[in-house]
Amino acid sequence: MTASTTYRIAPSILSADFARLGEEVRQVEAAGADFIHFDVMDNHYVPNLTIGPMVCKAIRPHVQVAIDVHLMVSPVDTLVVEFAKAGANLITFHPEASPHVDRTLSLIRDQGCKAGLVLNPGSPVEHLDWVMDKLDIVLLMSVNPGFGGQSFIPSTLDKLKAVRKKIDQYVGSGGQPILLEVDGGIKVENVAAVAAAGADTFVAGSAIFGAADADGGYRGVMSKFRSALKSGGR
Ligand code: DX5
Ligand code: ZN
Repeated sequence: MTASTTYRIAPSILSADFARLGEEVRQVEAAGADFIHFDVMDNHYVPNLTIGPMVCKAIRPHVQVAIDVHLMVSPVDTLVVEFAKAGANLITFHPEASPHVDRTLSLIRDQGCKAGLVLNPGSPVEHLDWVMDKLDIVLLMSVNPGFGGQSFIPSTLDKLKAVRKKIDQYVGSGGQPILLEVDGGIKVENVAAVAAAGADTFVAGSAIFGAADADGGYRGVMSKFRSALKSGGR
């Protein structure tokens, strides 16, 4: 355990009430969200269709924290430019969805955003090799992308350890800091084990937006996440 690890919680608005999205993001930020995780699905790269740059622009004035745009789309590049204009702060994409990964990463940074790659459960960690200097964040999927509310895939823990090692070696040899985010099936019950395996940033959709009022709502579940991380992380 390193006392200095800063943990970030990124509620995924995929599980929010879309009819009240402004209020939802204000409330989850007030409950302590570090990022707003914004899932973009195109019914082509993944079998679901969600929200685009217009919705990002609409929520931007309602939140102070960074908007973390997870692009599950192909092609990627045109949407990078549109999301940067719409107020995104971090933009991640799947390497299989872009024919020129290095170029897309540079494009994201050129637009003034932090850049990252997303690895599906079956994607090799070698996608990160040769582009480490262009990464601000790595997002490991712990479910197959496309839907909220799925179960955490246990092999993600070993994969997190492998990516943690890669990042630590890179940063230790003078590289820039890189966040390690995990997405899918994250709950109060498993977040400590996921942190111990190396993640520092946690996307949670159904666990946060599904929190019952009787259990303290968003504030209640966020404080349970923080306590679990305090007692069981690195
Ligand atoms: C899935 C999305 C996730 C999703 C996570 O493709 O990338 O961000 O919202 O939802 P939960 O936390 O419910 O697994
Ligand atoms: Zn996501």
